[in-house]
Amino acid sequence: MKKMAIVLAAGQGKRMKSKLYKVLHQVCGKPMVSHVLDTVHKALIQRSVVIVGHGAEAVQRVLGQTVEYALQEQQLGTGHAVMQAKSLLGDEDGVTIVICGDTPLVSTATVEAMIALHLQQGAAATILTAQLDIPAGYGRIIRGADHGVLRIVEHKDCTPTELSVQEINTGTYCFDNRKLFQALSQITNDNNQGEYYLTDVIGILKQEGHTVAAYLVEDSGEAIGVNDRVALGEAERLMRLRINKNHQINGVTLIDAANTYIDADVTIGSDTIIYPGSILRGQTSVGEDCIIGPATELLNTVVGNGTTIRQTVTDGAEVGEQCQVGPYAFLRPGTKLGNHVKIGDFVEIKNTVIGENSKVPHLSYVGDAIVGSHVNIGCGAITANYDGYNKSKTEIGDNVFVGSNSNLIAPLKIGSGAYIVAGSTITQDVADNDVAIARERQVNKQGYAEKLRSRARAKKDRETE
Ligand code: UD1
Ligand code: CA
Repeated sequence: MKKMAIVLAAGQGKRMKSKLYKVLHQVCGKPMVSHVLDTVHKALIQRSVVIVGHGAEAVQRVLGQTVEYALQEQQLGTGHAVMQAKSLLGDEDGVTIVICGDTPLVSTATVEAMIALHLQQGAAATILTAQLDIPAGYGRIIRGADHGVLRIVEHKDCTPTELSVQEINTGTYCFDNRKLFQALSQITNDNNQGEYYLTDVIGILKQEGHTVAAYLVEDSGEAIGVNDRVALGEAERLMRLRINKNHQINGVTLIDAANTYIDADVTIGSDTIIYPGSILRGQTSVGEDCIIGPATELLNTVVGNGTTIRQTVTDGAEVGEQCQVGPYAFLRPGTKLGNHVKIGDFVEIKNTVIGENSKVPHLSYVGDAIVGSHVNIGCGAITANYDGYNKSKTEIGDNVFVGSNSNLIAPLKIGSGAYIVAGSTITQDVADNDVAIARERQVNKQGYAEKLRSRARAKKDRETE
């Protein structure tokens, strides 16, 4: 049995009031249409055709070569949209799932259950329906005396009685592929919106004597169709709960799941604890036994097992095992921390590799550097890697001690075992095991303090007279 899918993604989404095409709006860090395709692919569907129109190029850029495309030049309705797949799929035998690109919460389990019911009933069409307290905006499922589905009526075409129906069309269907295209050729745009409705196919198939089934989704949250930002916010909330619950089931402790924001593709190992206000974004992966947060934002970051990251922002960083990061650190792209590294408070690291057991405990900037293992970079020490035009590299060997408040002016090499005296401004390379001191020698003036004070007092007295 061949399984195909048609994903409707050609609409502009006027009600979003956005420069971005509707199906590209993100839910938990992933475009809605990508969520839909993930669901479709997990249901082992062999061919997927995405109908594109508004923002076709942008949608194709996001989805790439994993799917086929059909262009709907003018958006004349959902039925017209599906018709655009005819040249690609029209001659196939099998079942075709039609799903909207703006329903990101439909789950794979639900799609599979719908297909199973469809095959079991030998139906021409099976509609995924939901029972909603507030059905406004959705197409209504109209059933006959025998409770069988007769047709779908769009909200804008409903009579007052039809409006009171709470069973709605989620916009996901399973069709016998040939019957779908045969019925589509009969639809018209004779309705309140002047559009070719896909939903009219249901009434046509029923009238022709085919079996039309309905699969009522268990969790009505899956039904949400995102037409505006209010629905987008609701979809985000529901998806977040789903993602968080999955992590909890997999052994992750979320201290406050309602205030933990984890993107769809993030992975987290068991026995990791996430404190409130943390945001794990993009392709982030956190190991086991970690402590993340509170208020920590990890973007495209890899974190090894047993690491603690508190009140910190990271972007494109790799953090080793058993590291301590924060509070209040900033790890920028190209940061690679070995195992057992400590990055302390108010430290910024950029495009820098730091070896095992090294420490940058407080108030430092380290950029464009390669730092060996067992290095200590003292409080306030920085790399000066930028001359206003060029970025230069700093290389620091193993077991180096960089004293507090040192300025390392790149390009610079500091050999292993070297010792930089606190407060130095280092402009020349330092050989292995050398001590470098680059600061003014201290002068003490005996008893001079009282003289300074009386001079200052006199100045103040003169000015307040
Ligand atoms: C549609 C259904 C409605 C259902 C609801 C579920 C129809 C006529 N109505 O209504 O019964 O309850 O979804 O969310 O099908 N699109 C195109 N080309 C077009 C028009 C739309 O590709 O010409 C795409 C849109 O990008 C969108 C999807 O189809 O992803 C649904 O279109 P939309 O206008 O949002 O339909 P609804 O009014 O929500
Ligand atoms: Ca919609």
